[in-house]
Amino acid sequence: MPHTIARPEVTPQEANPPGSTPHTQSSSSVTIPVELNVNGTTYALSLDPRTTLLDALREHLHLTGTKKGCDHGQCGACTVHVNGRRQNACLSFAATHEGDTITTIEGIGEPDALHPMQAAFVECDGYQCGYCTSGQIMSAVALLDEAIGPDDADVREAMSGNLCRCGAYQNIVTAIQTVRGKR
Ligand code: FES
Ligand code: FES
Repeated sequence: MPHTIARPEVTPQEANPPGSTPHTQSSSSVTIPVELNVNGTTYALSLDPRTTLLDALREHLHLTGTKKGCDHGQCGACTVHVNGRRQNACLSFAATHEGDTITTIEGIGEPDALHPMQAAFVECDGYQCGYCTSGQIMSAVALLDEAIGPDDADVREAMSGNLCRCGAYQNIVTAIQTVRGKR
């Protein structure tokens, strides 16, 4: 049974410790109550209405597995599932997700019980630095329920919204095709 957790706000000192680069969240003192259901738990937050889903996850819920790359919908590092479909968390406001079921990389597997896609990425060496990897895996898991063709080229097209600066694409495709039973 999902339960509700009230999260204390991150203080400005916590958000921007001395010597750090201030993050992009607004300094507005206007906040609104927002309930988010993430990985089966409902969190009661008080957020600046302009807070993106990505910042809510990372800065308020401290679910830092979801990465911020471009913050402009161009890299896919922030991919999460919203009601079972993949979505860039940097492109929508958290307040618009009340009532949605949100899943992050922390919600699909555990270190000792990996999701088959996580295991396949490890097995196939589908990463180098790892920064894009959680987004790649979240896209890849969602792709399993999408109507895409059987070939590597189909997977590449379906994964084209997830960029990898390390160029691990071939092994990423191999991992996905292994889970799809195409290898
Ligand atoms: S951080 Fe969201 S698409 Fe790049
Ligand atoms: S593994 Fe480094 S960006 Fe993809």
